[in-house]
Amino acid sequence: MSEQAYNDKVVRQFSIITVLWGIVGMLVGVIIAAQLAWPALNFDVSFLTFSRLRPLHTNAVIFAFGGSALFATSYYVVQRTCQVPLFAPKLAAFTFWGWTLVIVLAAVTLPLGFTQSKEYAELIWPIDILITVVWVAYGIVFFGTIVKRKVSHIYVANWFFAAYIITIAVLHIVNNLAVPVSLTESYPVFSGAVDAMSQWWYGHNAVGFFLTAAFLGMMYYFIPKQANRPVYSYRLSVVHFWALISIYMWAGPHHLHYTALPDWAQSLGMVFSLILLAPSWGGMINGIMTLSGAWHKLRSDPILKFMIVSLSFYGMSTFEGPMMSIKTVNALSHYTDWTIGHVHSGALGWVAFIVIGSLYALIPKLYGKTEMYSTSMINTHFWLATIGVLLYIAAMWIAGVMQGLMWRAVNDDGTLTYTFIESIKATYPYYVVRFLGGLMFLGGMFLMAWNVMKTIKDVEPAVVTIKTPAVAAQGA
Ligand code: HEM
Ligand code: HEM
Repeated sequence: MSEQAYNDKVVRQFSIITVLWGIVGMLVGVIIAAQLAWPALNFDVSFLTFSRLRPLHTNAVIFAFGGSALFATSYYVVQRTCQVPLFAPKLAAFTFWGWTLVIVLAAVTLPLGFTQSKEYAELIWPIDILITVVWVAYGIVFFGTIVKRKVSHIYVANWFFAAYIITIAVLHIVNNLAVPVSLTESYPVFSGAVDAMSQWWYGHNAVGFFLTAAFLGMMYYFIPKQANRPVYSYRLSVVHFWALISIYMWAGPHHLHYTALPDWAQSLGMVFSLILLAPSWGGMINGIMTLSGAWHKLRSDPILKFMIVSLSFYGMSTFEGPMMSIKTVNALSHYTDWTIGHVHSGALGWVAFIVIGSLYALIPKLYGKTEMYSTSMINTHFWLATIGVLLYIAAMWIAGVMQGLMWRAVNDDGTLTYTFIESIKATYPYYVVRFLGGLMFLGGMFLMAWNVMKTIKDVEPAVVTIKTPAVAAQGA
């Protein structure tokens, strides 16, 4: 018997700041969506232009919103499933302040134009070093907790979190190998096609391990909890894990079709992307079947609604991705807004929905409450988010296919049927629809912030003691 308490302070800090970063990141998303629809909104002010704000959006939503949610949930899940408080609590506190400093530095440097121009790794070298230090601290806290666990079994959610922590460390270091020439500038050690390949090895695995594997860890804990049922097939979850992490690594070249990359490498990327459909759907089916015993609750529990929709989008984007990796399909989709639609069906539909659902389940618990302040507000949020994301991706699908077809259309004499500017003009209405969808999604986030504020107002944070040396961690 132990009377120790879980270390939930850092979980609370990361959970609350996730909501804030969600609003900031999506607000910038809505602003850049408006700039694409109405270019005058660039205002001719350098730090307000689309080119400066776009990386701010991607960094804010992926690393600030998504990253903070992952810190919060991985710290919560690893303690509950190992039945011990976090290892090295001071280091855990450091990860919160360190990660938040990284985000603040990103928010200052990117609009000022300091960038190393690698997609999803734009931050300049001093910030990259800070990220490495924070990440190593994260690894020590997470794996230290696993090592001192009181439960012999390591619950599957922790496997996904573990793979993400290790892989992101390796990806971050290799992709950012550079020689600094000043405080803000550096030259990458790679060049040419090798540089392109290392960037997309990083880029694709950032999708695979940051935006997918880690959120699957979240899914494997919070979905069984909220549905109050065990994982449908624990065996499938383990097969899902090993298949996913071993196949993802090889799919990166699908971002470099028809480039200077050797043709065999492009084909290899395509084949591995097609194979990736199987484990992805295995995971989706496992999640949906876990929820299948709780269908009756779906009407009344909007948190479950967020979760089932997130799984549906996970399934959809992991079907679409393999299709887009087929070279002949990519010849149409690449450079068009179809890619942007695919990105957001994964990023909004899957990632944001699972984060929102999990936080609605988690936040009341962290403050000793059984549920959020207002369930009907969660319901309204659900509908705003669902209609918002549907408007976003439907607009981008139509715009994307239209652009691809217009660019390749040729007249009988071999000349192009459309000028490039004609395709842009034809896209404007869809940019307006995407802006409206984004605005709805953002509106939902404001509702969430209000609901969270009301839930935690005037309540003491909960102190949860660890009473029983658990026998099994599954679903703990
Ligand atoms: C209100 C919600 C959002 C809106 C309105 C929005 C809007 C946008 C816009 C306008 C772009 C630029 C597209 C272009 O260059 O043509 C973009 C890019 C991107 N956004 Fe969002 N976004 C939102 C939420 C999110 C979230 C939650 C994530 C991730 C978790 C995300 C991840 C990305 C990524 C990765 C890109 C780059 C895509 C690429 O280069 O192919 N977005 N977003
Ligand atoms: C089986 C799973 C998946 C496969 C095989 C896949 C495949 C692809 C392909 C072929 C592209 C287009 C590359 C190009 O033409 O430039 C792409 C872009 C992208 N995908 Fe996926 N995708 C998958 C799942 C996902 C998920 C779940 C997410 C998000 C959570 C996601 C996020 C992205 C992003 C951010 C890009 C844009 C990268 C860029 O150009 O900036 N993908 N994906």
